[in-house]
Amino acid sequence: MSEMPAPTMTEPTVDPSVLAATPVDAQGTPRPVDAVFTVEQLAFFYGANQALRDVSLSIGRHEITALIGPSGCGKTTFIRCLNRLNDLIPGTRVEGRIDFNGSSLYAPGVRAIDIRRRIGMVFQKPNPFPKSIYDNVAIAPKVNGIRANMDELVEECLTRAALWDEVKGKLRDSAFSLSGGQQQRLCIARAIAIRPEVILMDEPCSALDPVATIRIEELMVELKSDYTIVVVTHNMQQAARVSDRTAFFTVDVSEGGRTGMMVEVGSTEQMFTAPSDQRTDDYITGRFG
Ligand SMILES: Nc1ncnc2c1ncn2[C@@H]1O[C@H](COP(=O)(O)OP(=O)(O)OP(=O)(O)O)[C@@H](O)[C@H]1O
Ligand SMILES: [Mg+2]
Repeated sequence: MSEMPAPTMTEPTVDPSVLAATPVDAQGTPRPVDAVFTVEQLAFFYGANQALRDVSLSIGRHEITALIGPSGCGKTTFIRCLNRLNDLIPGTRVEGRIDFNGSSLYAPGVRAIDIRRRIGMVFQKPNPFPKSIYDNVAIAPKVNGIRANMDELVEECLTRAALWDEVKGKLRDSAFSLSGGQQQRLCIARAIAIRPEVILMDEPCSALDPVATIRIEELMVELKSDYTIVVVTHNMQQAARVSDRTAFFTVDVSEGGRTGMMVEVGSTEQMFTAPSDQRTDDYITGRFG
């Protein structure tokens, strides 16, 4: 038996600059390779009051990013910066930079109304329109000139929001005839009807019972294959159950005021098992907040 020639091994050539380019967050945490949002040194002011400072993080595509932290630390303020909803509040000001798909969200010429079409929002309290279940889903696509078979679109969105089976026989009933959990799923169906890229959720389960909460959580996990989700939650188990990455915010009182700031961001697993900052540890273990 003749011996096989030994394979010639060549050293793999690795360009060190590629390794060095691994993107990291401010704390050196590896950040998502494909970021929908990149936030750098964001600060936010309501008039003279600074509500946020030093927020730098990236939000990965098709990931669920959870924002946690004590009341008043600026979670709602931050999430509303991501779709320029704070623009509607007079006297507010943003500093720093938010890139959305690589371009500045606040650049001159970017219209907030276009942004809000691409970045949907679900609020803490279910807020369906005082209209039928059907119209709640159909209205935004109609207004936005989305050409589609509306019956099909309504069914598709209600199905994706895990509500179709419960409402298919009463689509013309008022949205207010639904339970709180069903109303929240209707709001999610309404949010996805305009085919956004991102869904922002500000404590979407805080008004819901545990069963409805679990349904929304399952829905979030299901939706992330198509959407990027950013969720604010006071429920640590919820953050741990659904999110890929978690950012912890706190209130800084060191300079006399009460300014929200981001303490750290990382994979949810790391944040809940080995946070880098004592303040995060205190918060997630219930010693503070
Ligand atoms: N419309 C507003 N005008 C002026 N100040 C505001 C406004 N909205 C929020 N703030 C202030 O900004 C700070 C951050 O509030 P924000 O609602 O973002 O906190 P949060 O982390 O979402 O709190 P919570 O967990 O209670 O919802 C607070 O001090 C709040 O009083
Ligand atoms: Mg809030």
